[in-house]
This record gives sequence, structure tokens and C-alpha cells, in this order.
Amino acid sequence: MSTETQPEHSLPASGVASPPNRTSPALMLYRAALMHTPSSPFEAPGALHTEADGALLVRDGQIVASGPYHDLRATCPDAPVTDLRGGVLLPGFIDTHVHYPQVRVLGGLGMPLLDWLDHNTLPEEGRLAEAAYARAVAGEFLQGLRTNGTTTALVFGSHFAGAMDEFFAEAQASGLRIVAGQVVSDRLLRPELHTTPAQAYAEGHTLIRRWHGQGRLRYAVTPRFSLSASEGLLESCAALMGDFPGITMTSHINENRREIEVVRGLFPGARDYLDTYERAGLVGARTVLAHSVHPSDRELDVMAGRGCAVAHCPCSNSALGSGVFPLRRHLTAGVQVALGTDVGAGSGFSMLKEGLQASFMQQLLGEEGITLGAEHLLYLATRAGAQALGLEATTGDFTPSKAFDAVYLQPDQGSTLDTVLRHAGSPEQALAALFTLGTQADVARVWVVGDEVYSRQKSSTSLATS
Ligand code: GUN
Ligand code: ZN
Repeated sequence: MSTETQPEHSLPASGVASPPNRTSPALMLYRAALMHTPSSPFEAPGALHTEADGALLVRDGQIVASGPYHDLRATCPDAPVTDLRGGVLLPGFIDTHVHYPQVRVLGGLGMPLLDWLDHNTLPEEGRLAEAAYARAVAGEFLQGLRTNGTTTALVFGSHFAGAMDEFFAEAQASGLRIVAGQVVSDRLLRPELHTTPAQAYAEGHTLIRRWHGQGRLRYAVTPRFSLSASEGLLESCAALMGDFPGITMTSHINENRREIEVVRGLFPGARDYLDTYERAGLVGARTVLAHSVHPSDRELDVMAGRGCAVAHCPCSNSALGSGVFPLRRHLTAGVQVALGTDVGAGSGFSMLKEGLQASFMQQLLGEEGITLGAEHLLYLATRAGAQALGLEATTGDFTPSKAFDAVYLQPDQGSTLDTVLRHAGSPEQALAALFTLGTQADVARVWVVGDEVYSRQKSSTSLATS
């Protein structure tokens, strides 16, 4: 890997996201076409629940009832109503793998993983040593999440503790539900990105005490990947997990064949890539591993047995030419799978696009693939993510007792999506159209625990009538 020196870089004038409009009314009836997946369509049919003219009754940010609008209205005639007809209300998206320092380097096409890291990404990650730069990037990153309807994310952080303080402060102000941690590495990257096991433990400890459990924030211990982490560093990560039970661990695994070869050489005693984490004590129910494009059967069995989850990032896997994700093998083994955008190797923050790409890639696998319908995509982009993060009791669908974490998609009149939605013959067709044609431009409003964290000021409000 490269050790080129960090270039000079001028700071942007601004970039910090403005605080969201934190409304959180005590009681509100949201009237909308609703779609959600309270169960897994991979396990049983009928997972997609829809209401063409539905409602959610929300008290203090929690859903207390859901059903047809007229039924709920009859039970609470005095509740104020937010009228969201003209679009579709979905649970907020859950992105289980996305890199905070990489928002400005999206679009580095045509390179495999290790070249892409050297030439596209690591030089930028070095720039986050400067607090003002890191703060600006954090604002841009969080803006990317919320304007795409993502309400919860497992975020790969920066190598710098100061950049993580900037990030957590911005994340807290954003109102989003964020699980994130400082990334640690002690070899084979650029020297300015390296730490030591002792420093990694000390900085992680301070960050966890400062941020874990503050509002909607949680901490994730984050060794970058075994290629850049010595056994000692992985053990220091495990020590943090031992000291703070309940925190998440995330990393990369089996993404690229060349990477896997290098890891094999660095850990001659390990049975495989997973074993490099396993031997350190990092594989458990709170572990989320990104990619897993080239797993062995043993790795799948262990991941399933330990209850860890895989973040599938199909746009990134395509962009870096990493390979086609073996979804069927994961599901057959019993491994939990959710979706991640993997910004910046992926193609942006849209979980709709990520779902679409997942579907495309399974199609390319032919008989080895799994046909992903719209209900699978919604599940992978919402409830599966909540399960991967251990948040399924809190978010991911619209059943009563869940938080009101939601995204309202409302296409512009005359857009292709608007046309297709108007002619959709079934809720499944409408949902498939959202995944196929929906973009950031269609995200009109976003809530977390009833707080409105994003509202697009529409120039045309014509669709919200009737
Ligand atoms: N493996 C180690 N670091 C990275 C990263 O930043 N992106 C991806 N896609 N894979 C990685
Ligand atoms: Zn990644």
C-alpha cells in the first residue's frame, strides 16, 4: 500500500449541516399510504403490510396504533392530523455500512479495493486530522444520510479521535440514530492513519465514555480490516468490548480476492479471514461484518452460529469489481443479512438504489441467485438493518411500540416515478417502482422518534392535495 505524503488541502468555507427542525408533537395522527415489513419475506410470504389510506397514531415519538385511517380517526377524533396523502410513508432506512470520511471521494471508479484505498480514499481520510475539516465533512455526511431517508446508520468513522468528537457532536445535533466508532489500524495504510494497541484502547475508552448511550448515539469498535490490524490491535478492540458490554463491533471481511490473499499471509495460523477476528474474541451477536463476498462454508456457519450479521453492499461490490454476493449461501446457512451503501466505494447514500442493485446482482447469478421482489428490498433496507444492529424492538417497521422513524417519499408531479405510481396495479408494483425510480429528490420528509429531521421544501405541493 502507498505511503505517499498528505497533500495540502484548503478548508471549505462551511459544510456543517444546519440543525433539523425538532418538532416532536405530543400526539399526531399521520395519514398516508403505508408500507412496511414487520417480518421477513425470506421466511414466510405475506411479510409486506400495506394500507392504501392508512394512519399511524404517534404519541411522544412512539407509534401507539396503526391501521386504516378512518378506523384510527374514529378512536381519536381530536388528534391533530398530518396529511401525507400523495406519496408513500415507509420506515426510515437503515444503512448498516457507510463511511463518514469518504463522502467527498464518492465517484472513484474503475479500481479494485486496494488501489482504490491507496489512490482515492486514504489520502482524504488523512485530512480529517484537522478538526475543522472533519467537522465540515461530518455535516456533509449526515446531510447525505437524512436527505436520502436514512434514519439509522452503522457508521465507519475516522482514524482520528478528534474527528470522532466532531462527528458525534454533529450526529447528536442531526437527530439521527447513529452507531459509530473510531477506525483503528496499525499497519499497511499511511503512517498518519496508524495507531498502537494502547492508544486505540485509550482513545476508544474516552470516546465510549463520552458518547455511547448519549441520546440516539451508540459506539462501535471498528478495526478497519485484518489487513491493517495486528493481532495486538484486534485484542485491544476485544478488550474494549469486554469493558463495555453491549457495544457493537464492525469491520470488513472477504471483500476482494487480493485482500484475502494478503490477510492469509499476515495471519498464517488463522483458518480463514473470519478466524482472524474470532481468535481475538470479536465475533458475536453484536458483530456486523461488511461485504462477505467470498466466504467459506465454515465462515458462514460460524457467523450464523454466533448471531453476527453481514452488511451487503451491492453498489460497492459492483464499483470495485469485488464480486457478486452469495445471498443464497448466507441465508441457507442462517446468517442475518442487511444492506449498506458503503459510501464512498458505493454510489451514494440512497438505500433505494442499494436495494435495486441487490436485486440486479441476484438476477445476474441466475439459478444461484435469489429473486428479490419489492418486499425483500424493503425488508433488507429497514427491518433487517434494525435486527443486524440489535434495534428491532425500537425501529425498522411500523408496529405499535416502535419509534416513529419514517421517510415520506413524494415524487414530483409529472416525474416518471409519479407516472408509474399512478398506474401501479398493486402495492407491490408501487413499492417496486419506488426502488427502481426513487431518488434523493423524492425524499420529502424524514422523522426520527417523531422529530422531523429533514423536510424538503417543495416548490409544488400539488400531490399533497385531495
Ligand atoms: N476495506 C478496508 N477499508 C475499506 C473501505 O474503506 N472501503 C471498503 N469498501 N473496503 C474496505
Ligand atoms: Zn466499507
